[in-house]
Amino acid sequence: MTTITGLIGYPTSHSLSPRIHSYWIAQYAIAAEYKLFTTKPSRLRQTIGHMRSKNWRGVNVTIPHKQEVMNHVDQYDATAQRIGAINTIINDNGVLTGTNTDAYGFITNLREGLGDLTPYLKNVMLLGAGGATRAAIVALQDAGATSITLINRTEETAKALADKFNIAALPWEVRNEALSEATLLVNTTSLGMQGQDALDLTLDALPVTAAVHDIVYAPLETELLRKARARNHPTVDGVGMLLYQAQHAFSQWHGITPEVTPALRAHVLAEAMEAA
Ligand code: ATR
Repeated sequence: MTTITGLIGYPTSHSLSPRIHSYWIAQYAIAAEYKLFTTKPSRLRQTIGHMRSKNWRGVNVTIPHKQEVMNHVDQYDATAQRIGAINTIINDNGVLTGTNTDAYGFITNLREGLGDLTPYLKNVMLLGAGGATRAAIVALQDAGATSITLINRTEETAKALADKFNIAALPWEVRNEALSEATLLVNTTSLGMQGQDALDLTLDALPVTAAVHDIVYAPLETELLRKARARNHPTVDGVGMLLYQAQHAFSQWHGITPEVTPALRAHVLAEAMEAA
């Protein structure tokens, strides 16, 4: 019997997940498929019902369903609860469990890029206050970050999130000067992504030892990373977060932890560049 996995979202056509999962399914010769289940919000309940009755092994969940789907699974774990969103569902003989692998993806990518994170976790500046930011906060807190500050265009959103996670928030206007104490700077906004506005940020105040991470991966070298490299900061690009969140989902569905290799990175980036 073929193991069915896939992606529930609307739209789904832009997603790189099929390319990643199909690569591993072939590499490990698993009798499985990763399909696109394009689902409008009004049909979410029905699609989840199909998942249960047809015994699909698992799905990833993306925009716009990540929050709403929490109302449709049988249970979800503490990580999903803290992030406030589900990106992966595992079906164990009709019992649907939601989790969120984005925090794992975020921190595993960061560790791969920087090694021991201890020196970088002292004073983290996060740009943004969206869904990706929440996964980053959970990951950074679990990794032992001592101080996290959110800087977001809409200050109220940052404040609400900061209160929830017991961290700090600063207004967007002070973003340049606020970098003077940072040990790690992370862009979790969509700014700098192909087709989006540029990220207007000056790194002059950033200490030379601070690391810079951008979760944007199209382009792979964002303007932020280019500027950081020119100043010799350690940098981490965003494609690893995508690959490692997929790795964690794959291992929970198939019982194999698939390898994230340079060849896979290249395979995925080729499509990311094509789509951009
Ligand atoms: P995701 O779930 O992928 O993180 P999101 O929830 O839409 O996406 O969040 C997008 C982030 O990018 C938000 O922090 C948003 O800031 P606001 O809260 O002010 O909307 C930020 N963002 C998007 N466009 C921006 C812009 N032109 N300038 C500054 N921040 C921007």
